Formats: sequence, structure tokens, C-alpha cells
Amino acid sequence: MKSNQKFKPCDLVIYGALGDLSTRKLLISLYRLEKSELIEPETRIIGIDRHALEEGGFVKVARKSLQSYLNETIEDEVWQRYSARMQYLMIDLTQLDQYKQLNAVIDSKSRVLVNYLAVAPFLFKNICQGLDKAKILTRESRVVMEKPIGNDLKSNREINDAVAEVFNEDQVFRIDHYLGKETVLNLLALRFANSIFTTNWNHNTIDHIQITVGEEVGIEGRWEYFDKTGQLRDMLQNHLLQILTFITMEPPASLEAESIHSEKIKVLKALRPITADNVEEVTVRGQYTAGYMKGQAVPGYTEEEGADKESTTESFVAVRVDIDNWRWAGVPIYLRTGKRMQNKRTEIVVYFKRLPHNIFKDSYRELPPNKLIIHLQPKEGVEIEMLNKVPGIGGSITLQQNKLDLSFSETFKNSPFFGGYERLILEAMRGDPTLFLSRQEIEQAWAWVDSIQDAWARRKIAPKPYSAGSWGPVASVALLARDGRAWEE
Ligand code: BG6
Repeated sequence: MKSNQKFKPCDLVIYGALGDLSTRKLLISLYRLEKSELIEPETRIIGIDRHALEEGGFVKVARKSLQSYLNETIEDEVWQRYSARMQYLMIDLTQLDQYKQLNAVIDSKSRVLVNYLAVAPFLFKNICQGLDKAKILTRESRVVMEKPIGNDLKSNREINDAVAEVFNEDQVFRIDHYLGKETVLNLLALRFANSIFTTNWNHNTIDHIQITVGEEVGIEGRWEYFDKTGQLRDMLQNHLLQILTFITMEPPASLEAESIHSEKIKVLKALRPITADNVEEVTVRGQYTAGYMKGQAVPGYTEEEGADKESTTESFVAVRVDIDNWRWAGVPIYLRTGKRMQNKRTEIVVYFKRLPHNIFKDSYRELPPNKLIIHLQPKEGVEIEMLNKVPGIGGSITLQQNKLDLSFSETFKNSPFFGGYERLILEAMRGDPTLFLSRQEIEQAWAWVDSIQDAWARRKIAPKPYSAGSWGPVASVALLARDGRAWEE
């Protein structure tokens, strides 16, 4: 993560510029970067898509996206600067000959070419070949890829191989937008800038860890993509495993990309494989049925628009993860994520071990464990649950459980909050790979997730139903209950 030095301007080319990702996220994030004066003055934004647009059409598209998705007023002066950077090219990305149009607008001598692939992964190979054929790439050029990069280890490797024919690994920026989230990055600060969390961060003091990424949304018109993917591959393979690596990796030697990447890979390599023999004990698959979200009736997964009534794709997954290394031996990490959960909630709960002896039996027959709760979204903050003496004289000591509560929105109310995409687009333009995924890391994550998918197929494990608006199937409660534990509610 580089400081605010001067950076070379870019030709930022967005492939799929009229698509969902571009219009909902990228164009909004770029505007916010513009507003904060974080984009180099000479940088240009070149949208590419297969549809013809009238003169100035891309600027109109950008304006419309801001009107729909930006939660603040569009400032005239910022908009003038921002829209002046934009150009549009109509290219059919499957036609390699058409990429030569880029030659007329790219200036590789004075700007770095950053290719942002906001398109379906089947086009990644074509784009790389088209760019190669047009001979506009230099050693400085970069490619930014969105997930999903494949659907399993094999397809992921095929895409990586095709990209590697044209770009060196240090030119490839693979995005997981969770790594751009302020609170995910704060995990580094929490763990490696506070001595109270250094010596205590292991199997001696930690009993277990829970990571929950609950989503309120259902399928949102993405049936075709989601049904082929499922929650395991859509969310756990990337976002949850990334949070897990940040929370469990060894201290990196520095904030340099290589240090961080290599520590994350070590964790992924130490994940205990899940096989047909243990898959039923350590995983839960679920699929939502009709239910109520905040009082509104919502359809079940197989009743969504365009749904296949027979689908057995999971919209919920919970897994007990064991990390077979010195630090985490005997400390299970429970992961769960689902669509149509009771509310949107992303949090990590670290349960510390119970004390060996209780001298406060009048208050608590068994002392509750300390808990560190890290709220990643939507209410960002950190809480520690601890016991205190209730003030009073004349009787025995009475304890009460209280919270040390640090709310980020309160504490940092004067600091601007940026979304994940703002940070990642900026880092890609600046050429810092720290917050992106290396090839080895993503392949390791796929290898582990493939083992679960494989074991489910072998055991023919169908998803268990849960009502929309709940916290998943009963089996998810049983997953922890078997170990004498319960989910944080
Ligand atoms: C995406 C998934 O990567 O992350 C979506 O494809 C999911 O299915 C989304 O809804 C969740 O992101 P966030 O930032 O809202 O937690």
C-alpha cells in the first residue's frame, strides 16, 4: 500500500462498460475518487462495450449511474473534470481484429494501460489475445480481473494460463472486493498493531472463531449465474476465505504484497481437507424456501424469476474449518454465509477460552468467556465482551457482562469512508498488488473448495430447506451444538 506520492497517469479501459458492474460500482467509485482528487489529472477512462452509442453517449450513461446509485449530490465541478476523461469505443470483444481501434486512443508512452475486465470470464482469453494482437501492451500494462475467475480449480487454471500467455504475474490484479473494505483492512491493524492481540492469538487462549457473512438479498435477477455457482463458490471460496486468512495468518514481515500473499497461502495450505468421509459432519448446505423478510413475503429459491424448480444449488453454506498448524491446532473456525438471512451482517466473533477456576460462583455458576466481536458491515466496529463488578457494598461480589464498544462511524466521523471498489481501483491504477489475489492463492482456495464440492457430489448431499428471513437450516445449529457451541446471535 503506497503513500500519496505522484503516480503515472493511466488509460483505464473498462471492458463491459455498459454492464452491471461498471454502471453500479465502477463508474460510481471513479467519481468518488475524482471528488477526492485521487485520480491523476492526465488519466483517462475508456469504456468499451458491444453496443453503439451516440456521441457523448457514455458520459450520459455515467451520469445516469451516478443519479441512480451515488448517495450524494453530484458536484458540478467534479462532474466536469470527471466526464472530460471519458471516451467510448464499440468493440465486439469476441472479434480480435476490432481491438486495433484501441491504438488510436491509447498512449502507452505517457500513460499506463490498465485493462479492467468487467465482463464474464469466458471473454478473458479473447480480450488478452485481442490486446496482444493489437500490439498495444507494454511491460507496464496491467489487467484487472473480477471474480468469478472460473468455477473450479481446472477452469481457474485455464483462465490463468490464457492470461499468462500475454501478461506476467506481476501485471495481473485479481479482485476480491472484500479486500478493499475498510473493516477487512482494519483486521491487519487490529492484529499487528496491538500487542494485546499478539501473544493471545492462538490455541492457548482462543477457543474457537465464527465468521458470518449473512446477506438479506436473494438472487436479484442473477439466477443463471448463481444457479451454476452456488453460495460455496460465490461467497465462501473468496470472501470468507479471505477474511479467514487475515484473521489467522502469521504476522507478515511487512505490508509488502509478497509478505502478505505468502502468509495467506500458508494458511490456505494448512486447511484440513474435507472428504466424503467427514463432509456430513463438518458442512451444511441449505436452500431458502418462501418466507418473510422484514414483514414482506418473499419467494423461495426455486420460485425466483427464471428458476429451475428442481434446482439443488445451495444458497447457504456452513463449514467447520480446521487449520492444521501449530498456532490453530484444536481451534475450529466456523464459517457460514447465506442469501435471504434475517439481516445483512458480516462479523467475526473470537471466543476466548473459559477460565480454569471460578471464584465468583455466586454470580455465575460458569463464567462466560470473553468475546471479541468485529463488525465488518453494516455497523462497522469492534466490541469486547467482558465481566465487571456491579457497584455495591454489603453483599458478595456480583458480576455483570458488559461491552467495550468502539463504533467506527462515531470514532471516525470526520474521516471519509470509501467502499471496497474505490480502494481497489485506485491501487490497480497505482500498481500496488498487495490487496489483490496471487495466482497461487486463488488456486489453493479453489483446490480446497473443490474438495467440498466433490464430497457433496459423492455423498449426494442435497441442500436442506430454511425459511427466507431465518439464519439457515437447523442443521447449521447442530453443526456447532455437536461441539458444545452455538452461533452468536
Ligand atoms: C459478490 C457475490 O461477490 O458479493 C454476490 O457475487 C454477493 O452474490 C456480494 O451478494 C456481497 O457483497 P457485499 O459487499 O454486499 O457483502
